[in-house]
Amino acid sequence: MIQLIRGFKDILPEESALWQHIEGISRSLFQDFGFKEIRLPILERTELFKRSIGEDTDIVEKEMYTFPDRKGDLITLRPEATASIVRSYIQHKMYAANPVRKLYTIGPMFRRERPQKGRYRQFYQINAEVLGVDSPFIDAQLILMLVKLFDRLSVTDVSTHINSLGCPACRPEFKAALSEFLSSKRDQLCENCRNRSGRNPMRVLDCKVPSCREAMTGAPVVLDYLCTDCRRHFEIVTHTLDRQKIPFKVDKHLVRGLDYYTRTAFEILTGSLGAQNAVAGGGRYDGLVKALGGPAQPAIGFAIGFDRLAEITALNNTLIEEKPELFVAAMGEESIAAAYEWVTDLCLSGIRTEIDFSGRSLKSLMKRANRLNAAHVMIVGENELKQGSVILRDMTTKEQKTISVNGLVENVKALLKDR
Ligand code: HAM
Repeated sequence: MIQLIRGFKDILPEESALWQHIEGISRSLFQDFGFKEIRLPILERTELFKRSIGEDTDIVEKEMYTFPDRKGDLITLRPEATASIVRSYIQHKMYAANPVRKLYTIGPMFRRERPQKGRYRQFYQINAEVLGVDSPFIDAQLILMLVKLFDRLSVTDVSTHINSLGCPACRPEFKAALSEFLSSKRDQLCENCRNRSGRNPMRVLDCKVPSCREAMTGAPVVLDYLCTDCRRHFEIVTHTLDRQKIPFKVDKHLVRGLDYYTRTAFEILTGSLGAQNAVAGGGRYDGLVKALGGPAQPAIGFAIGFDRLAEITALNNTLIEEKPELFVAAMGEESIAAAYEWVTDLCLSGIRTEIDFSGRSLKSLMKRANRLNAAHVMIVGENELKQGSVILRDMTTKEQKTISVNGLVENVKALLKDR
């Protein structure tokens, strides 16, 4: 038997009701905040991710699915959506008529990480991005929207961590201090970090290797090096969230695994998923539009790990079961043929109806109706049919009614809609 690829998974019909529920709540909340959907390709030129996420990041160094297409151009299955959104913003000159764009997108991403609970090689993200606004109020609003989404899904075991990563004005000083610190710790760093620390010292802050983490205790933190503008920006974000009673924690050790971030960075963490505790992450990336060839436009956004969100939402919600309103138990060829047409009409008129074409006994059909948890069963027997009627049974009250086949669909509709 051919099995799916390691790290990939099927989202089965029993799970997809929950996925639709989450998607529906997200879309409606985002739309209320003025976001519009953008749908993007899954394949992009490799260069796009190298230039945005950064050459020295884990994602670009070792996790991308990159391959030459038939003409030899290098293409990559997108590991995230922000780079593509910015590419599209620039390519379609969205900045020209109205530089302020609020965009969201939902879809699969690909990273060749080591699979484990909550970590997949194909996973889904719900992304929201605001381009063209530098006010700290948009940072606060975006974080608020994210937190409210978790509230609306009744997900409680989450906490919001916020930090500022500075800007090109203050970062060089921080980087210099960090480099100096790192040179004193060189022997304790993993090989990867030793290689990266010269080119990109901030990446070492993100390393998960225990010896590196230990070596980094006492390392300088960006918050202590912020310039006046970055400090002011961060204060307004945190004060605004305080005023709106959004609980959060300033986490001066928070760094993100992608290079494009400036200023506000945040993550939503959960205690319910073991090691994979980040359910969402995001931040400002004020330099990215320009770096990818567009005009200087600030931007901020986040991505929620949909798979992880679905797992924790399932812990907090009982699923609304999608059961049929009506199950048609038809016995004998003539009954099945007559019932077939009624069933089609009932489905088309919005009544979720199931029929079994097997022609099995009433007993086994009733068993199937029970298994499906059908609210009503319509019994269509040859004898009753000859007399021009069928039986409608309410599976909860066990009450049975005889219904005339003349105008049957209307009669059934009226009875079921009355409930
Ligand atoms: P990220 O932190 O790399 O950020 O990913 C965001 C979320 O995607 C994570 O918090 C996690 O929930 C989920 N995720 C990441 N990798 C996996 C995986 N292998 N399996 C399951 N879930 C995963 C970004 O991708 C940025 N583009 C976010 C952003 C948007 N920043 C600004 N705008």
